[in-house]
Amino acid sequence: MTIYDLIKSRRSIRTFEEKPLSEEHMKKLTEYVRNVENPFGVPIEFKLFDAKENGLTSPVIVGAKQYLAAKVKRVDGFEVAFGYSFEKACLYALSLGIGTVMLAASLNRAAFEKAMALTQDEVMPLASPIGYPSSKMSIREALMRKALHADRRKRTDELFFNKNFETALTENEEGDFAEAFNAVRLAPSAANGQPWRIVLGKDKVHFYEAKSMKDSPLGDVQKLDVGIAVAHFDLVRQETGIEGTFVFNAPDVVTPNGMRYITTFERTK
Ligand SMILES: Cc1cc2nc3c(=O)[nH]c(=O)nc-3n(C[C@H](O)[C@H](O)[C@H](O)COP(=O)(O)O)c2cc1C
Repeated sequence: MTIYDLIKSRRSIRTFEEKPLSEEHMKKLTEYVRNVENPFGVPIEFKLFDAKENGLTSPVIVGAKQYLAAKVKRVDGFEVAFGYSFEKACLYALSLGIGTVMLAASLNRAAFEKAMALTQDEVMPLASPIGYPSSKMSIREALMRKALHADRRKRTDELFFNKNFETALTENEEGDFAEAFNAVRLAPSAANGQPWRIVLGKDKVHFYEAKSMKDSPLGDVQKLDVGIAVAHFDLVRQETGIEGTFVFNAPDVVTPNGMRYITTFERTK
């Protein structure tokens, strides 16, 4: 399966089979998360936990026996880097048949932070259950998905722009970025807010955050969303054979109210 197919098949899982991960899957996931890099060079430390042993619970999760959590130092731009790495880990889990859902709010946070041995200068923005998806959703999960319109995404002309924010990008203009942009559109986000925006310049893809939520003690949660979307873009553009690097160099573009520049992908090939 390609990463693009994996991204197209992904959805958040909140109802799990009542069994722990196999030893083989625990070993593979533990190994993988030891070194999940991001293009921003910010180290993210992951840990896997037994839920019962550590008293980890979530009011929206049914059946999960284990959790994945991660922490990061509060350095500049930690949210984007964290979102990127966490989503990469979740996509790897999905490739093994393991379901996840990112939880920022629906968890007994104090127990998770204790398990992570969080220090003063660290933050644990997200955790996720890890387990095998149940064939049937709990009623609560089904209702949540409906309330969040979890299967809906914004139209491309609301998300992607050509050279400036006044001109929506047409399908033709996406060129070979089409799959990478669609992968951005399909990304998960807090309350399905989809705050990512892209302005396409010449061989440059500028990422923005349409900020609509106040910062919390966890930082800017919508920047996590943009980091997740950047991961989708980056993994699919690599698969498509597009080369380049991420830089911080805001273009000379007039931004609508609340729009924050995040990063730019500079294409070299
Ligand atoms: C940063 C972030 C935080 C989230 N926090 C929660 C949460 O606290 N509780 C929850 O049930 N879902 C949470 N979600 C899952 C979103 O509700 C979900 O991704 C969105 O509704 C889209 O659905 P999908 O992932 O199935 O495509 C979070 C997602 C992200 C990216």
